[in-house]
Amino acid sequence: MTAAPLDASRRAFLVGACGLLAAGLGSALLADDAQAASGIKRRANGQVDVTVAKVPALAKVGGAALLGNVKGVPTAVVRTGQSTYQALNLRCTHQGVPVTLQNGQWSCPAHGSAFAIDGAVTNGPAQTSLASVKSVLNKGVLTVA
Ligand code: FES
Repeated sequence: MTAAPLDASRRAFLVGACGLLAAGLGSALLADDAQAASGIKRRANGQVDVTVAKVPALAKVGGAALLGNVKGVPTAVVRTGQSTYQALNLRCTHQGVPVTLQNGQWSCPAHGSAFAIDGAVTNGPAQTSLASVKSVLNKGVLTVA
């Protein structure tokens, strides 16, 4: 049995469909590659896996890596020791404005509160430290939230 030759319009459709498929796969692979390169990967369930050895910002104690929003919470991971890490909720404990990393500490742009890199409050009006976000370290991967 021989296959019937494709007419020109059907052949053009198939070539176009394959091109779109290839383009789609290409962008997906690029996105995955970029995440793998940074060591930070968001799971479908919203949790974020941080392969700590692959994140340059976590190479030294006191380093911090921003994760963006994790399940709706602005979050960072801080290396607190040789093999300890802490995920922080970056909402200021005064009135909830997200803090930013400046000169090795967290600063709130709203009213000037400041927090040490591990989240401990160092300057008011905030009265309490940044909250922790649940995280579990397993075989070099910190799973956050
Ligand atoms: S909200 Fe951060 S100091 Fe007021």
